[in-house]
Amino acid sequence: MYEVTSNDFEAAAQNNALKVTDFATQHTLRFIESVTKRRSNLRFLEVGCGKGHLAKALVDRGHQVLPIDVSEEAVAFARSLGLPAKQTNIFDVNGSAFDGILFIQSLHHISPLDQSLAQAARLLDKGGFVLVDDFAFSKMDEETAVWFQGVQNVFAGAGIDGFHRINIDKAFAHLMSHYAEHGIHTGDELIRASKNVFPNVEISEGGPYLFRHFVPKMESRPESSDVIKAIFDWERFQIEKGFIKGLGLRVIGFK
Ligand SMILES: C[S@@+](CC[C@H](N)C(=O)[O-])C[C@H]1O[C@@H](n2cnc3c(N)ncnc32)[C@H](O)[C@@H]1O
Repeated sequence: MYEVTSNDFEAAAQNNALKVTDFATQHTLRFIESVTKRRSNLRFLEVGCGKGHLAKALVDRGHQVLPIDVSEEAVAFARSLGLPAKQTNIFDVNGSAFDGILFIQSLHHISPLDQSLAQAARLLDKGGFVLVDDFAFSKMDEETAVWFQGVQNVFAGAGIDGFHRINIDKAFAHLMSHYAEHGIHTGDELIRASKNVFPNVEISEGGPYLFRHFVPKMESRPESSDVIKAIFDWERFQIEKGFIKGLGLRVIGFK
């Protein structure tokens, strides 16, 4: 069982040399700040923090963050940013209450779903919130899959690491079997579980999400933020015109 102490936050607060300003992080920060408004020094738990870029940006804005992830590699990277990251899951977190619990692109992986959200509700202070920034993979259709794979094929053709060319005619089938293989939760499951656990839930659906897929593969490049923004704008425009589906799913659950 991992007990949260105030020491966990001090190391991170002292090490704010690196300012993370990438586009995807900014996009999520705007979502978080739509809830927190101008409040500072909030206590966050970030579940499935990955490399910790968002946690770092929140610390740089004067908040306290406990980032957790089950991946040893992710936690090691987050710790290298000066964050008090822990390799654990949400059931092993205990201690004083959080103002906000963040699941950014992570909740679709996390099981059991209802119990994880119920544990988040227990860890929240009165008036606290859970914020989920995720996607509804079952909304994927052929047009969306072809666009998404087409962009990846361009990167693969340019020799960028991590991208694999797939025959465009097979893009939809390939993606759906990838999602099935990973056994991830659908958007409907994420919504149902959130409504089940939180009495007051705000949901927004249909926004851009697929641009996020490109972030880990591009982030070491200096032009990464501009490239990600360009893909985001392209995805947003196509969703607005009805050419592709917006897979984004955002949930705010208030305790
Ligand atoms: C797609 S990544 C997203 C990482 C980061 N939040 C971001 O937006 O870049 C999902 C992360 O969730 C983590 N994860 C999966 N299951 C988890 C669990 N049960 N508890 C905590 N982290 C988990 C994975 O190790 C991975 O780092």
